[in-house]
Amino acid sequence: MNDKQKVAQAAIEYVKDGMVVGLGTGSTANYFIEALALCVKEKQWSIKVVSSSTVSLIKAQEYGLELVSLDQLSHLDLYVDGADEVTPDLTLLKGRGYDLVKEKLLAKACKRFLVLVDQSKQVETIGEKFPVPIEVIPFAWQMVKESLRQIGGDSELRQTASKDGLVITSHGSLVLDTRFKGSPGTKELNDRLNAIPGVVEHGVFYKLASDLLIVEEGKVSVLSEAESRR
Ligand code: A5P
Repeated sequence: MNDKQKVAQAAIEYVKDGMVVGLGTGSTANYFIEALALCVKEKQWSIKVVSSSTVSLIKAQEYGLELVSLDQLSHLDLYVDGADEVTPDLTLLKGRGYDLVKEKLLAKACKRFLVLVDQSKQVETIGEKFPVPIEVIPFAWQMVKESLRQIGGDSELRQTASKDGLVITSHGSLVLDTRFKGSPGTKELNDRLNAIPGVVEHGVFYKLASDLLIVEEGKVSVLSEAESRR
């Protein structure tokens, strides 16, 4: 079992019969989906799942999990996802995938948000390793880029991997990948991004994670919201 499989397996301990579980996106979340499907089969549990992206929806279908659509739910029990960065106060950077809107809706609507990472994702400041993804309404991208510039952000429209087109999210937005000069605090960055007209959603997940499961060389440790450095 590799480290990502181990942390995904550890997350299974938080699942109980009858829950509605949100499925994240990425390689770690994929391992969780596999482990959940096995658990449901073995224990004959009644679990409903909701996907955070088309990728996780397809994966859940492949593994025979019972899907409900997001628009049927006002809340869910548990959401399990990875992250691109995590700070000591449990702020996350997410959004290397193209489904920020669903990811943040699930993170906000769940009773418990479990985040699965390896130690390489731990940073002191958001934006240390990756630009901050900012989903924008297509016709607003130039105005949003200028608003971001005014708060110290240098943005580029995200291109497809083959560099022959622009990335369009499942919500139909463009993505401005943005690097910030200096290090605005996580609350300040979150507040400033929330206040820009034309921004649909952004990758700073502030005060949303409940528990962080960190794996390092096969050993999983847990950091809960109450214990985090806030
Ligand atoms: C998806 O948009 C991201 O927020 C993922 O959660 C993130 O990229 C984690 O991916 P890995 O589990 O593959 O590292």
